[in-house]
Amino acid sequence: IEKVADENGDTLTLLFCNGMYWAPVFNEQAIENMRDLPLRTDDILLCSYPKSGCHWVWEIVRILLAGQISHGEVVHKESFMLEWNPHDVLASLPSPRVLNTHTPFELMPRDLLVKKPKVVFYYRNFKDLAVSFYYHHTGIPPFEYNGSFDAHTKLLVKGTIDHGSPFDYIRGWEKGISENPDLSVFVGSYEDLKENSLAEVRRLSEFLGRDYSDEFLQQVCDFTSFESMKKLKADLTFKTKEGESVMYRKGQVGDWKNHFTVALNEWFDEIIQRENADSKLKFRYTL
Ligand code: A3P
Repeated sequence: IEKVADENGDTLTLLFCNGMYWAPVFNEQAIENMRDLPLRTDDILLCSYPKSGCHWVWEIVRILLAGQISHGEVVHKESFMLEWNPHDVLASLPSPRVLNTHTPFELMPRDLLVKKPKVVFYYRNFKDLAVSFYYHHTGIPPFEYNGSFDAHTKLLVKGTIDHGSPFDYIRGWEKGISENPDLSVFVGSYEDLKENSLAEVRRLSEFLGRDYSDEFLQQVCDFTSFESMKKLKADLTFKTKEGESVMYRKGQVGDWKNHFTVALNEWFDEIIQRENADSKLKFRYTL
């Protein structure tokens, strides 16, 4: 466990393991042994940089696989997370497992390219991601971060943050996907899902080989909406000291406009232009 200092000396408490920083609440052994984690052909692997909508998409995918909404059942996404659980715990989960991870492509289990489970890859615009990650680090006690949004954004750009730089993450995954065309990968963005949930949930359902009525797909959208999830999951996920949900904070596109100063925004735009120039993904900052 290390304390990473920002430019003002405020620190973020992180776990250093396998050559990079991770959340301190993760399981160190699971991370160390990540490359050797056995996967199954019928797994679904949800992969995203933190704060890109992982909780949301995980719920959708689980329901689409099950073919029904279990209203009474509340399950913790983290119990299906690669960096959270020892191998034997993951091995005890019945198929088909909807696993999830923020692991960079290069550190993913070797079985990804052997068993070739379906991958659902999600991404979010860098500015909303920066805001959401800031509240994640100030809101979840083990990170112990009390710094400013500006200084936090600089840590993010430097990559001295859990899971490293988001630009490296996107670059690594885009490269991994393009170099392995035999992998079956669904690529989706938080913004598209937010703007047109029904169409995106239908696309996900087709990717998973399921054929549902629009009525059912609409029920999935309604059940997994921000308001519904916030209510249902409130007690399961991390809370700030004030009792606010960190994982279901605001759920919007464009909240970055309330946090970036003009100067920080101009600086960040230049970074995005430089760091993300080769990306083929479409990043949208407003709807
Ligand atoms: P904000 O902090 O901007 O509100 P992750 O699950 O990858 O950690 O991502 C968390 C972000 O997704 C948070 O963003 C959270 O509010 C948002 N989110 C979670 N569930 C959502 C939903 N059902 N609809 C829209 N956004 C959702």
